[in-house]
Amino acid sequence: MPFIIWNNSYSIGIESIDQEHQTLVAMMNDLHDAMQQNNLEEKDVLKDILDSLLSYTATHFNNEENYFDQFEYPDTDSHKKEHADFIKKVSRFKIRFDKGEEALSYEIMVFLKDWLLNHIKFSDKKYAQFFIDNGLEKAITDRLTS
Ligand code: FEO
Repeated sequence: MPFIIWNNSYSIGIESIDQEHQTLVAMMNDLHDAMQQNNLEEKDVLKDILDSLLSYTATHFNNEENYFDQFEYPDTDSHKKEHADFIKKVSRFKIRFDKGEEALSYEIMVFLKDWLLNHIKFSDKKYAQFFIDNGLEKAITDRLTS
């Protein structure tokens, strides 16, 4: 059974952003699966998945933040701070992990999972209607067809 099972309660009602969130869930599930293998050869696999997870998370946050700026979203500062704090925390863990000072643990997996799902449910959902009211789906369509 996957570590995180996506369900509709995590949907914010904007397809493109839901897809990005589902990708993050899939990457966390891959990380969890690799962690459970628990042998030395997996260290490189974990490192690669962690690198990809950090990189994709930064891309996803950047996508949301571009819309905050474009639409002048009122809660921009607090939402950007949540993003920055998460990236800082995971980046610090990654540095310790790369140096062999800290292993990937179940507690860290639970932290990643809880942070993501709570952030989607309580912070991302707050902007959804505002984005839609500002024509997000149309903005995406225009960008894809230009
Ligand atoms: Fe979907 Fe604010 O991260």
